[in-house]
Amino acid sequence: MAGSVVLVTGVAGFIGSHLAESLIRRGDRIVGVDNFDSFYSRDIKERNLVDLKSATGADAFEFVELDLCDAGALAELVARTKPEGVVHLAAKAGVRPSIADPTGYAMANVVATANVQQSALEHGVKRLVMASSSSVYGNNERVPFTEDDIVDRPISPYAATKKSCELIAHTHWHLTNMPTAMLRFFTVFGPRQRPDLAISKFMRLVNSGEPITMFGDGSTSRDYTYIDDIVAGVVAAYDRIDEHGYRIWNLGGDHPIRLDELIAKIGEVVGKEPVIVREGMQPGDVDRTWADITRSEEELGYSPEVSIEEGLGRQWAWLRDRL
Ligand SMILES: NC(=O)c1ccc[n+]([C@@H]2O[C@H](COP(=O)([O-])OP(=O)(O)OC[C@H]3O[C@@H](n4cnc5c(N)ncnc54)[C@H](O)[C@@H]3O)[C@@H](O)[C@H]2O)c1
Repeated sequence: MAGSVVLVTGVAGFIGSHLAESLIRRGDRIVGVDNFDSFYSRDIKERNLVDLKSATGADAFEFVELDLCDAGALAELVARTKPEGVVHLAAKAGVRPSIADPTGYAMANVVATANVQQSALEHGVKRLVMASSSSVYGNNERVPFTEDDIVDRPISPYAATKKSCELIAHTHWHLTNMPTAMLRFFTVFGPRQRPDLAISKFMRLVNSGEPITMFGDGSTSRDYTYIDDIVAGVVAAYDRIDEHGYRIWNLGGDHPIRLDELIAKIGEVVGKEPVIVREGMQPGDVDRTWADITRSEEELGYSPEVSIEEGLGRQWAWLRDRL
């Protein structure tokens, strides 16, 4: 399906900048949108765009600074650029900050998603691929988490907005037949990882000899997924969603690791002993995540290839030069 115009939202962010790079390399032209949300520094996002342009050249990439909550501006952009498909990754991400700002999260995640769907419908877009999250599983008791599990009990405003997006996406597909993929990403890591996420934060702290705050007893676990594997899953979903109508797919690494083990591995990669300060579990944090990837393996040919050790090495090699 290469060779078309694709609108990528959240293009200045971690996953969006990598995805745009990959789509340009296979011959797509990208219209990228971002509003440089203040959730983390604009400088970091502008650097992502510079890296993206220097890796791919500027010809196949148009960047537009735009807030997706501005439905009129978005509709004008979609009418002018006529994308064949939209990959909607823009969001306020992050579980803990959502507790202090549920309204901001509802606007950036739910209202913006409804605007993306509406403008896509009005201007002939053929398919939508959107970011959901493993956080919709809440404290699901059964592991690994499968797409058919009931996910009616999110435990943070962020997770509730992602579940809401899955619902409005289902409704939109039901009413319009526009093929729509919802991708549940499991904690993504690698170069350009958001600075608020554990691996990125811990690498900086271990390197500078500052203490890491470990919430809980270290037994919580996450199914970390390397960025290149996520990008491969998003591209496969974009290419195959037309056969499915509305479909949810887990994109995980399938190898959960405990928090205390992760910290030890980061110490090895950085080459310094981590200093750990223990605190209680944080509200909104889930105990564990673990993706059942059977459906994405069968239907997308998804097969995560980068191990946690390999990925940590690559992330540190990238970060070390930027400290
Ligand atoms: N990184 C992960 O581990 C992870 C896990 C699960 C789900 N996700 C989801 O994947 C997507 C991408 O995550 P990321 O880690 O790259 O986050 P990110 O914060 O790096 O990227 C998101 C981008 O969206 C932009 N944005 C936010 N609100 C916007 C608005 N109203 N209009 C235009 N742009 C807006 C931000 O400025 C940012 O650059 C998000 O939807 C996130 O919820 C990420």
